[in-house]
Amino acid sequence: MGRVRVGVLISGRGSNLQTLIQAAQAPDYPAEIAYVIANVADAKGLDHAERAGIPACVISHKDFADRAAFDAALDAALRKAKIEIVCLAGFMRLLGKKFTEDWRDRVLNIHPSLLPAFPGLDTHRKAIEAGVKISGCTVHLVRPELDDGPILIQAAVPVAEDDTPETLAARVLEVEHRCYPLALRLLAAGAIRVTGKTTRHGATAPKGSLLNPGGTG
Ligand code: GAR
Repeated sequence: MGRVRVGVLISGRGSNLQTLIQAAQAPDYPAEIAYVIANVADAKGLDHAERAGIPACVISHKDFADRAAFDAALDAALRKAKIEIVCLAGFMRLLGKKFTEDWRDRVLNIHPSLLPAFPGLDTHRKAIEAGVKISGCTVHLVRPELDDGPILIQAAVPVAEDDTPETLAARVLEVEHRCYPLALRLLAAGAIRVTGKTTRHGATAPKGSLLNPGGTG
């Protein structure tokens, strides 16, 4: 069976894109990173795509009159590239209702907090100011509301008393890089069942991974 074609949308550094590219190099990985779109012309993450020989383009939101027109351009580019699943990886634009409904349950996002806590921008500063003792990351299916949608995977990290937004971000990023490839593996393998706000997954998580730490199954 062919691998699922994945498009990754980025706005900046692209470290999550890079972990997806690396994960997809495993022969048994059910998805291939087939296309990358940046909405920012000088997004550093475009270098990862180029190095990996993955087709990429820039579609700047600034070139469109409104969100609907920008979303339509993204949609057209993804369809032309025969993309089946979209991963938002540090993509800092909201997708509108039509796009999220047309691509329902086929768009993943990663957010650097334990949602539903601390959606939106400035996540780590908000977490530190709220005095939480753990934070983490969430991979979820995208719905029209910001950082909302059925959760596939979360991972937690401790918040240290002397953390700054930067030190906490770095700790959370480490678990992001473990969670995102795993979440995409599950979705691409067809293992995710969505019921309302909740998801369930089959026993396809690799042994020793976050979802199967004991290595059983
Ligand atoms: C990541 O920490 C990601 O969770 C966050 O932006 C960073 C992108 O890093 N995304 C959001 O805040 C979306 N709400 P990367 O470009 O190195 O993957």
